[in-house]
Amino acid sequence: MCGIIGYIGKECSANKIVLEGLKRLEYRGYDSVGVAAVDVQKRLVIKKDVGKIEEVHEKLNLLEPSSKITLGHCRWATHGAPTRENAHPHIDCKGNVAVVHNGVIENFLELKEELLEKGHRFASRTDTEVVAHLVEEGLDSGESLYNATVNALRRLKGSYALAIISTMEPDKIVCARNESPLVIGLSENSAFCASDIPAILPYTNKVIVLNNGEVAVLEAGKVEIKRVSDNMPVSREAKVIEWTIEQAEKQGYAHFMLKEIHEQPTSLRNALRLQEQYLDLITTFLDRGDKIFLLAAGTSHYACIAASYMFSKLARLATYPVISSEFIENYGDSLGIDTVVLAVSQSGETYDTLKAVDYARMKAATILGITNVVGSTLTRISRAYIVQQSGPEIGVAATKSYTAQLIVLAQLALKLAKIRGKLSQDEIDELKTNLYNIPDIVENILEKREEKVKEIAKKYAKENLFIFLGRGISTATALEGRLKLLEISYTPSLAYPAGESKHGPISVIEEGTPTIFICPNDETRKEIIGNIMEMKARGAKIISVCEEDDQKIKNLSDDIIEMPKQIHPILTPIPYIIPLQLLAYYIAVERGLDPDKPRNLAKSVTVP
Ligand code: M6R
Repeated sequence: MCGIIGYIGKECSANKIVLEGLKRLEYRGYDSVGVAAVDVQKRLVIKKDVGKIEEVHEKLNLLEPSSKITLGHCRWATHGAPTRENAHPHIDCKGNVAVVHNGVIENFLELKEELLEKGHRFASRTDTEVVAHLVEEGLDSGESLYNATVNALRRLKGSYALAIISTMEPDKIVCARNESPLVIGLSENSAFCASDIPAILPYTNKVIVLNNGEVAVLEAGKVEIKRVSDNMPVSREAKVIEWTIEQAEKQGYAHFMLKEIHEQPTSLRNALRLQEQYLDLITTFLDRGDKIFLLAAGTSHYACIAASYMFSKLARLATYPVISSEFIENYGDSLGIDTVVLAVSQSGETYDTLKAVDYARMKAATILGITNVVGSTLTRISRAYIVQQSGPEIGVAATKSYTAQLIVLAQLALKLAKIRGKLSQDEIDELKTNLYNIPDIVENILEKREEKVKEIAKKYAKENLFIFLGRGISTATALEGRLKLLEISYTPSLAYPAGESKHGPISVIEEGTPTIFICPNDETRKEIIGNIMEMKARGAKIISVCEEDDQKIKNLSDDIIEMPKQIHPILTPIPYIIPLQLLAYYIAVERGLDPDKPRNLAKSVTVP
């Protein structure tokens, strides 16, 4: 998992542009960073080291040398530990070729062996370095940079977004894509490539998304795209991206995560403006399915768990939420032409999800997608898809993308209920009114409850174990609340359906263990009160997220976070997760951690 960027222009500002772009890509990986530039004497200059971008820049001054062509890379190690040697860019034996890469070259060991036998010298333990040496082979036999790159690409197995430069042709960047995202940006006098759009948006909003199996040659103000397999030219118009740069920056918040939590009223409104025809199409496919799987990883999986309650309760339709990495093993043999797979992925690039989707496609299943990224792999392999319109999410912890997924899934459940004739028109109208109120409710919670959550975070920040419990659809909220806390504050935490407590987990409760109950006023309320009593009797500190004026739950709780009344039970996962996102954020901040860059994690996990 890494971020790559390349720039070529007519002015000597390449390093500055690449450095700025790297800062916007840092969420993709931040264990090491590097740049490769061809200086005015046409020498290749490599600067790289372990550490975050600012640290490495302070040490090495990444703004120099003055150059018109530069590549940049921020790394999240997959092959080879985070060391200076393994940091990108990687070069060939002569120091004429530089390569940056995001992905995994699966057959690198056999290629490396072959290249070693031919006398190539390797400086790193990465899979990427073979690419530099393969290109060197081509250049040595008189090929152009383009031909040498294409011949190298044809030998690679695995995933890559690659950008390559050479001192022999210092007016070109050759870049290519297979299963790792890569976009190209164009302006009058320059050209860019990058792992995603925000990296280049300050400089151009004209963007071309490169498809799998395509290679592009970038020159100042010019791009030429071809297919790797047969060198056939590809003609594709650049799209004009409407995002502003501000959307991709922090807007005065201390962290992207906090900014993105506060963006939820807007992102929810956007997700309610989806085109009906796409919702209708997906609904029709879901209705035709014999078996329906909701496929996702991490936070997106929890959105699917909530969705399975929505589909069942509103449309009387049983669906199976399955963790992507378990899908093939668990259900692979049962798939067929009547299977429908609805894959949910913020990035649309999660390896586990795409692998499971590929398998299901091979078994003739119908693939549907919900994602946040236009042009992502998921959008290209789905029969029909919905883009949830959350805008770029930079914080590693999914927040606004989760609630947007939920509101998209709720719309699908409602439509399904309608076409299956499971709800009356009055019920549908009432639910719709509720649905369209959700962004205002979330806005209200953010305005009125943030201070209370901050107080609770301060009080419990030093605890070393948290428990999250919910019943029914709130099980999803408990799981997602726990994941948020766990991933950014590194606090060991448990979450499970509250009814499971007495089947084992209750034994971990000690005097003072903070136990968070998600208890909306739905049909599970009576039973969850029983669970609160069980935990309280064993000394747990009870923190409840419940409806305002719920006196009974208030009386049993040490701390409460009050939610507005009259939220339809099926929609409670959206507002009820907001205080838990804030709780995780403020606990991480109290502990002196950076919530945007949790250790060992990356925003989108595009490797096995
Ligand atoms: O892009 P995706 O929705 O497919 O990502 C899936 C998970 O990697 C992701 O939700 C992860 O769990 C989040 N960082 C959690 O906040």
